[in-house]
Amino acid sequence: MSVVKPLGILAAVAALSGMAPASAAAQTAAAPTFTKDVAPIFQNKCEACHRPESIAPMSLVTFEESRPWARSIKNRVTARQMPPWHIDKTIGIQDFKNDRSLTDKEVDTITRWVDAGSPKGDPKDMPAPVPWPSEQGWNFARQFGQAAPDLVVKSLSWTQKAGANDAWWKPVVETGLTEARWVRAIEIRPGSVKGRKITHHAIARLQQKETDDLAANPNDANGNPLPGTFMEWAVGKQGEIMRPGSGKLMLPGSKIVWDIHYSNGGEDVTDQVELGIYFYPKGQEPKFRQVLHLMGATNAGGVDIPPNVVKATEGYFVLRENGRVESFQPHMHLRGKAMSMEAILPNGQLQVLSHVSDFNFNWHNSYVYADNAAPLLPKGTILKITAWHDNTTANKANPDPNVWVGYGDRTVDEMGHAWVNVTYMSDADYRAEVAARKQTLGLTTDRQQQ
Ligand code: HEC
Repeated sequence: MSVVKPLGILAAVAALSGMAPASAAAQTAAAPTFTKDVAPIFQNKCEACHRPESIAPMSLVTFEESRPWARSIKNRVTARQMPPWHIDKTIGIQDFKNDRSLTDKEVDTITRWVDAGSPKGDPKDMPAPVPWPSEQGWNFARQFGQAAPDLVVKSLSWTQKAGANDAWWKPVVETGLTEARWVRAIEIRPGSVKGRKITHHAIARLQQKETDDLAANPNDANGNPLPGTFMEWAVGKQGEIMRPGSGKLMLPGSKIVWDIHYSNGGEDVTDQVELGIYFYPKGQEPKFRQVLHLMGATNAGGVDIPPNVVKATEGYFVLRENGRVESFQPHMHLRGKAMSMEAILPNGQLQVLSHVSDFNFNWHNSYVYADNAAPLLPKGTILKITAWHDNTTANKANPDPNVWVGYGDRTVDEMGHAWVNVTYMSDADYRAEVAARKQTLGLTTDRQQQ
């Protein structure tokens, strides 16, 4: 993408937050050891998945468990395949609420540890173990002082047989709501400890008949509204609390459309995934409504990928009201290669908001912008989603480069859209948000940062 991009306040925000120091300098110190230098990184960035009874194939809690994987660890972290986080670090906004990626310094520490023969170090340097929960609990219930979420919606149960191939389970479940409610937080968890071993990720989408045109998503081929994602969950994630003053609106008759990826747990496991929803008290409406939009190519002939090519597909979404873009979640299948989200402002400026350069179908990350980085965009802004699909042999995940691929639900069909959460606001509120942002960031004019 060799487009000239004038910088406005939003890009300035990105520039400010994107300046992670690449500190590879002055590395003459002694080789890092596991106990002193590496274990703290693994506790922070790996153990969420790499511990006993969790989804990853091996535990990285102790030296003895980690040592045999040293070479593979170096490969995966230098290729930035682990931890799974596929945002291109050289372009767009870099400040996220849920960033689980390694810093350059952490990658460097791990690499030098492996290159030095992965020494253990002094056992006295080993940090105290992380107290991972052994039994099932709701994260936010404790925090909010409640016994449980206000509403729990369970997926239908699924049995993943020992040694079976990965499976995608998409049941649709009624929420049972009989009145509209505002949501302030959501979390998802596998229904049991064993369930954690097989539940790779789970997406819960909210399907409801919108009365507000601004909130509606396109219809599917049968005329049903396409569901907006409520939240995406993958191992290691706690859940989502809405930004202050904003919430999601659930309507009576709404349904949860599940999309759950199960992988092999080494034994037969039956489980149900649970979605826990916390409401604002009745009568206490948040000021802003967050709406999850599908942006990019849709089912209407949008995806057309000939054999043996890399194909770019563009889709456009007009913001009909001022908004804050909260998050970006690319959605493609096995041919998915990359996706970008750009903003074309009403004055013609083009800004790259985010780019995923190494898309991996196994990981459905929703990249949630940090409070002071979430782009504030005036009404009339066009969000441009570009999806690149690699239908050649260079794509290792490609089941067959010699066939044409179009839009479809099956894993071997394709999609090319992003789920993007938008919080809409009036002109006055928008101006206030922009002013507050400038103040927080110490900007006095739009163009100050270059
Ligand atoms: C969100 C969950 C998650 C996090 C966080 C995570 N991993 Fe993984 N990791 C997995 C899963 C699942 C697999 C197996 C599937 C795959 O290879 O993608 C895996 C595979 C691996 C492998 C390949 C193992 C093999 O079979 O060769 C290595 C090495 C690895 N992870 C290292 C790490 C390190 C080091 C970190 C932290 C810096 C980390 N991972 C963080 C989930 C995670």
